[in-house]
Amino acid sequence: MTRSRLFAITASCAVVATIAIAVSNTPSPANAAESGDSRIQIGLNAAPVPLNMKGKNVALVGLGSYFVNVAGDCNGCHSAGPQTEYAPGGNPFFNQPEHTNPATYLGGGRSFGALIPGSAQIISRNLTPDASGKAIGGDSFQEFLHTIRTGIDPDHLHPPCTGAPNANCIPAPFDGNLLQIMPWPNLRHLSDHDLRAIYEYLSTVPCVQGNYPGEDPHRCG
Ligand code: HEC
Repeated sequence: MTRSRLFAITASCAVVATIAIAVSNTPSPANAAESGDSRIQIGLNAAPVPLNMKGKNVALVGLGSYFVNVAGDCNGCHSAGPQTEYAPGGNPFFNQPEHTNPATYLGGGRSFGALIPGSAQIISRNLTPDASGKAIGGDSFQEFLHTIRTGIDPDHLHPPCTGAPNANCIPAPFDGNLLQIMPWPNLRHLSDHDLRAIYEYLSTVPCVQGNYPGEDPHRCG
């Protein structure tokens, strides 16, 4: 082999290597799917609203969407209720092509009534970001992690009753310090990574003003 021929081969190998490195460093939905976890692409396909992906990790968002929209049915409880969960003509239970209502998606406000007559109503909370862009109305990931791992209501909206039940408290045997109905006893078994993915996804969805009693009227800015 001549010297110049050897040089040509070495040079072309270097070019191929450079391209390979450039490709592997480019984040893209395709790469996310290629990570081997099919839940990422399934999750990305299942998101029913446009996502704000600015500065976000696609693989985490896709996995989070899988938990929120495919396996977890967060919106089943965290919409405003069954009547408005789907857009008109888009209710799969009526055998219509599914179309989630973006005006109520994860905006909370669905009432589950009182656990014991005369005590506090249990109402799902608004999980969408506020104007700060952080999930669940401005919660940090650490706050979200603590809520799911412990079940403790970060807002203490319905403390334990100290006397007769009233509309602001929850009587025993329920512990009013804990979120009720919300399936934290299941979700707390997820890994930190999985919960991070849920948090990441919840920070990409559009802000919904929601109808939770006492909601900041300027939640979305
Ligand atoms: C079976 C209904 C139900 C499902 C399913 C559900 N939630 Fe909830 N969630 C609730 C209710 C109701 C509350 C408020 C409970 C209370 O006031 O005691 C709540 C509260 C919360 C809170 C506390 C709000 C805060 O300010 O920190 C978070 C976070 C939350 N849910 C996230 C989720 C996520 C994420 C999912 C899906 C993975 C989910 N929920 C699925 C019913 C549900």
